[in-house]
Amino acid sequence: MREKIGKLVGMVRRVGVRGVLRNVPVWCRIAYDRYHERRLGIDTEGIIGVDQLARLDGRQEHDAHAVFYQPWPYAKFRRLMRSAPGVDPETFTFVDFGSGKGRALVLAADHGFRRVVGVEMFASLCEEARSNIRRYREKAGNIAAGIEVVCMDATRYELPDGDLFCYFYNPFDEVVLRQVVAGIEAAIARSPRRVVIGYANPVCHGVFDAMPSLRLVAANDSFRTYASAA
Ligand SMILES: C[S@@+](CC[C@H](N)C(=O)[O-])C[C@H]1O[C@@H](n2cnc3c(N)ncnc32)[C@H](O)[C@@H]1O
Repeated sequence: MREKIGKLVGMVRRVGVRGVLRNVPVWCRIAYDRYHERRLGIDTEGIIGVDQLARLDGRQEHDAHAVFYQPWPYAKFRRLMRSAPGVDPETFTFVDFGSGKGRALVLAADHGFRRVVGVEMFASLCEEARSNIRRYREKAGNIAAGIEVVCMDATRYELPDGDLFCYFYNPFDEVVLRQVVAGIEAAIARSPRRVVIGYANPVCHGVFDAMPSLRLVAANDSFRTYASAA
C-alpha cells in the first residue's frame, strides 16, 4: 500500500492532478478486466503483433491483411450484446471471426450461448484459446455450451446452419472482410435465417453498411450492430 501511495505521489509530481485524473478510466477498465479474467479463470490479456505470431506459427496466406491480437474490454462486450435485438442464445450460434485467445468465446458461453465457434488462423492463439476454455469449464462447472476453436483462415470457414450471431473485433482489413462478408451473404441466400452482426472497433463498417440483407440497429464509437431483415 505504502509503495502504491508513493507511486501515486510521484505521478502527481510528474503529470499533475489533472494528468492523474485522465488515467482513472483506464485504470478502472484494467481493474474491471482483471476481475473478470479471475472470475472466469482465463488469461486473455496482452497484445501480440502479427509478425510475432507469424514467427511462431509460420506465415499465413492473409497475414498481411490481419490485425494484431488484442482482446476487447469486458464492459464493451456486454454493451454490444445488449444492443443485439432478439438474439436467443439457446438457438443462435455465436461465431467469433478472429477469436485469438478466446475471451469472446468464453463470454458468449457465459452469456448462455449453447453453441460457440471461434475461427482463428494462428495455431498458438488457438492453443491458448483451448486452454482458456478448459480452465473456464473447470472453474464454472456444469457448462452446457459446446465451444469449439477452428484453426483456419476466416475466408475458408463455412458457416453452420441456423441463426447466427457473428462477432468481429476488427480482425482484418477490408480485403479479407469483403471475402468473409460475401460468404455470409451466400449462406443467407442459400438458407434464409436470422443473422446478427456485432462489429467492434468498426474500422471497415462500409462493408457491412452496403450489405443489402442487413440493417443497422445500433452504432457508436465502439461498435456497430446489424440484423438481417428476415
Ligand atoms: C483484434 S484480435 C480479436 C480477438 C478476439 N476476437 C477478442 O475479441 O478478444 C483479431 C484476431 O483476428 C485474427 N485474424 C486476423 N486475420 C484472420 C484471418 N484471416 N482468419 C482468422 N483469424 C484472423 C488475429 O490473429 C487476431 O487474433
